[in-house]
Amino acid sequence: MTVHFIGAGPGAPDLLTLRGRDLIAASPVCLYAGSLVPPAVLDHCPPDCRMVNTAPLSLDEIVTEIAEAHRQGLDVARLHSGDLSIWSAMGEQVRRLRALGIPYDITPGVPAFAAAAATLGVELTLPGVVQSVVLTRTGGRASAMPPAETLDAFARTGAVLAIHLSVQVLDRVTADLLPHYGADCPVAVVFRASWPDEQVVRATLGTLDPAIGAGRRGALILVGRSLGNVDFADSRLYAGDYDRRFRPVGPDPRFPGSAR
Ligand SMILES: C[S@@+](CC[C@H](N)C(=O)[O-])C[C@H]1O[C@@H](n2cnc3c(N)ncnc32)[C@H](O)[C@@H]1O
Repeated sequence: MTVHFIGAGPGAPDLLTLRGRDLIAASPVCLYAGSLVPPAVLDHCPPDCRMVNTAPLSLDEIVTEIAEAHRQGLDVARLHSGDLSIWSAMGEQVRRLRALGIPYDITPGVPAFAAAAATLGVELTLPGVVQSVVLTRTGGRASAMPPAETLDAFARTGAVLAIHLSVQVLDRVTADLLPHYGADCPVAVVFRASWPDEQVVRATLGTLDPAIGAGRRGALILVGRSLGNVDFADSRLYAGDYDRRFRPVGPDPRFPGSAR
């Protein structure tokens, strides 16, 4: 018996990995975070699967479900939205499973920030413009931020910020970022990237209307100079005169004989 933690992707059911799909199809128990995991992903569950929406459950209750499946020798597909490495609450579940001696494995998923960037049609890291992406959030009722992890601190770097769980405080977000990025810096808010009712708002930090986030969830705020920037240099990697291991160039290549 194994608990399969599976990143269910951002919303579109075909943005699930093949491994994730196959594990769901082979598991007689499925625990899913109903607030964000799309129902269509559950179509991969086998007939007679025990499906449990964990949104209203406590950690203790979730672990009880898993322990019972373990007792019966039944594999569990444990679904969380996007990827499991960020804001999935997988860490605390894994800690309990280790203590109970219950085996588990992890299958990554497509994170929301990648889906949002695809919707916008952008590469977030552009040569000479931005080379870092910060995945962050603002503090919420359930999770305070560590003191050093402020928007102000991240903004000082000029990196692209992918701000999660914060659309309801857009006014605070723009106020924190404006002094660092300037009023003309592009910002995009992507609501429910890859879902059928996906919505995109493009603006600048100076023109963004904070009211668009009121009463809404499931949105990602992307801020940075690479959004919509076409004035950047080509990368050196594919430059015709760039001598590299996979494409030696010139009479005295740095990696002779290593091509292809
Ligand atoms: C609890 S976090 C889960 C993040 C997820 N583990 C991931 O890899 O993207 C939920 C937040 O992720 C963002 N999010 C998740 N799915 C999204 C989507 N389809 N479109 C836009 N933002 C999304 C929103 O900021 C939302 O408040």
